[in-house]
Amino acid sequence: MRPDYGLDAPGVVRNLALGGVAAALAAFVFQAVPIPQADRDIGSSWFAVTALICMTEAGWMLYSSRRGKLRMREKVIDALALRGNERVLDVGCGRGLLLVAAAKRLPQGGAVGIDLWSARDQSGNKPEATLQNARLEGVEERVTVVTGDMREMPFPDASFDAAVASLSIHNIPSRDGRAQAVKEIARVLKPGGRVGIMDIAGTRQYLETLRELGWTDVRRTGFRLQMFPPLRIVIGTKPPKSGQAPTLKSTTSPSLTR
Ligand SMILES: C[S@@+](CC[C@H](N)C(=O)[O-])C[C@H]1O[C@@H](n2cnc3c(N)ncnc32)[C@H](O)[C@@H]1O
Repeated sequence: MRPDYGLDAPGVVRNLALGGVAAALAAFVFQAVPIPQADRDIGSSWFAVTALICMTEAGWMLYSSRRGKLRMREKVIDALALRGNERVLDVGCGRGLLLVAAAKRLPQGGAVGIDLWSARDQSGNKPEATLQNARLEGVEERVTVVTGDMREMPFPDASFDAAVASLSIHNIPSRDGRAQAVKEIARVLKPGGRVGIMDIAGTRQYLETLRELGWTDVRRTGFRLQMFPPLRIVIGTKPPKSGQAPTLKSTTSPSLTR
């Protein structure tokens, strides 16, 4: 049995696919409408283009969940420059895509995922599915899942060496709520801890919120087209306390320099 990390925004993918099929049918049916041939052609073409756009977006989203995200997760984990003994938090872990990838790099450490398990945001989203994926990838004993809201996380200050979030923070509808989630991530990270957030929206706000908190080592990549909608990654390091050595080894990930 292979791990299954689910389909993101399954309702959106389904609606795009259905819309594409409906528009393709309409393109054929429109040819029978009793209007001048030139008008029929314009109408049919419009429906055909709509069908093409909807189907392309649905297919790209499917590819993103099944393939693109597997590639992107390694880039985000690379950017954390883990040594192998850290405690890593995955915020909005869903079925454990980044959580499990982090745990695989932590032979002496552990990974904790927090989520509200919204099935609207990811198909089959539940803690049992996440733990099953961890089991199938051979890292179950290094993975813990916690049910909770990322805006108010049940963890003490400075309890993680690194944190990741994949396609999760943008699901919070309000700007204040998203800022609160980013502040929570900053709070639970140790000084010198690193964060990697990949998301399809909101990345400018995440960057600005971290800078408002006094983070100076924070940057955002360009768009990554392996995913649809294309995403960007925010990478940052929480300022170490003065006189304290950074928690993580210092590297600049070559894949994330833009
Ligand atoms: C699109 S899924 C991505 C899941 C996973 N990170 C991945 O990349 O496969 C978004 C996740 O964010 C979670 N989520 C949304 N709002 C949340 C909140 N306020 N607190 C915790 N998790 C949340 C959802 O339940 C869902 O699992």
